[in-house]
Amino acid sequence: MKASLKACDVVIFGGGGDLAMRKLLPALYHLDQDGLLAKNTRIIGASRRDMSAQDYQDKVREALNEFVPASVGDENTWPRFKERLSYVSVDAQEESDFARFNDHNVGDDEKDVVFYLATSPDLFGSICSSLANHGLNQERMRVVLEKPLGRDLISSRAINDEVTQNFGEKQIFRIDHYLGKETVQNLLAIRFGNTLFEPLWDSAHIDNVQITVSETVGVEGRWGYYDKAGALRDMVQNHLVQLLCLVAMEPPGRNDADSVRDEKIKVLKALRPIEGANAYTKTVRGQYAKGMINGKDVKGYFDEEGSNLESRTETFVALRADIDNWRWAGVPFYLRTGKRLGQRYSEIVIQYKSIPHSIFNDESNRQLQRNQLIIRLQPEEKISLTVMNKVPGAGEGMNLQPVDLNLSLSEAFNNKRSPEAYERLLLDVMRDDATLFMRYDEVEAAWKWVDGIMAAWSQTSERPKEYASGSWGPAASMALPIKDGRNWHDY
Ligand code: BG6
Repeated sequence: MKASLKACDVVIFGGGGDLAMRKLLPALYHLDQDGLLAKNTRIIGASRRDMSAQDYQDKVREALNEFVPASVGDENTWPRFKERLSYVSVDAQEESDFARFNDHNVGDDEKDVVFYLATSPDLFGSICSSLANHGLNQERMRVVLEKPLGRDLISSRAINDEVTQNFGEKQIFRIDHYLGKETVQNLLAIRFGNTLFEPLWDSAHIDNVQITVSETVGVEGRWGYYDKAGALRDMVQNHLVQLLCLVAMEPPGRNDADSVRDEKIKVLKALRPIEGANAYTKTVRGQYAKGMINGKDVKGYFDEEGSNLESRTETFVALRADIDNWRWAGVPFYLRTGKRLGQRYSEIVIQYKSIPHSIFNDESNRQLQRNQLIIRLQPEEKISLTVMNKVPGAGEGMNLQPVDLNLSLSEAFNNKRSPEAYERLLLDVMRDDATLFMRYDEVEAAWKWVDGIMAAWSQTSERPKEYASGSWGPAASMALPIKDGRNWHDY
């Protein structure tokens, strides 16, 4: 990664919260360790609590001990990182409190400033207007907005209208941390850095595409948030739809923010609406019941803290998406994601068509399988391509067998540490590169599509289908590709 050479102030609203402690501060620490932060870059936690800079530094140290165990006892980076950390106590709804940023010299010396809003989206509008009223919305100042950006098109527009009253589109960085994952970026390298794949990347050669994001965790004490969101809003509207866009978009002219986003928006606009009765044949909703994961008993959704037996919120969703354009006509994109499934993994599978004509005998034909490109995002980052081979041996005749050509990224790059998604994204905000962030028209188009599905679901009295924790979701989700004569790729 290229360093952020220009010093800047990074202000984190919600600076004492879960996201800051688990993800943002560990990511900034790693950037510092890798020499990617400029000398005078400061990190300023901001939240309502009264805390001294020393208290904040202690809290961050504790978080690093837990979330970056390798940092325990680190005498190289920590002293430098600690010096960067300070704290400002600000009530996000109390405009006069924002004067404290001026007292703290935020943005002085022509420094760039990044305001990371790791708060509830209800506060985005008022934070941005208070910043503007204190002169903290100049061109060199940017805001980073964490999801969820609303819960439907209307609420997302309301948030956007409030934010854009005070910050221009170029100053707004809407984060989707999936876009910062290494293998997701590698997808661009595979597609556009090789001559091999792109000529075969269309409906003439590809039979179907599958995107799976499978989690073993449940709602993890977030019932209040999660029950209002559900898997469709929490995961599909953003992470899975963004992955779909990167697979399906046309080659952009250049790898810059607007060229890439111009291509993604075309895909979003070509997504066929799933509405009315279609929602029953093209989507499956599930809710987890108790079960067993990795040998441990786990609770069902209704046994989680704060739960409500009336809830119809889906913790699993599988659906078939179609893209109505020349390149993808007739190619289903199967998407699925869920909590408390059997295994934590995320992958994109490109299943190619069968060969048009076989030269082999019946026995060999039975062994033939379609080529498959698998891009695994987690737990390990790897890419594999399944190709048909002859089993070695003179007496074997033409015995065929699929063999995987595997590219393990950690082995190929000598176990070089793969940065966490937030490292890449924070660095990009600091150097003002919005390529991996969402433009508002993308967010809006994704909500439009998701709103259609939500509206269709709300017309039914049917509950989401129960599935045992540790399984692969409701049986109906297995049937979704089977109805079309296809199968999910097994992990
Ligand atoms: C978040 C969702 O955006 O992504 C969580 O709100 C989910 O519910 C998380 O657990 C998954 O991210 P990752 O990087 O662990 O796959």
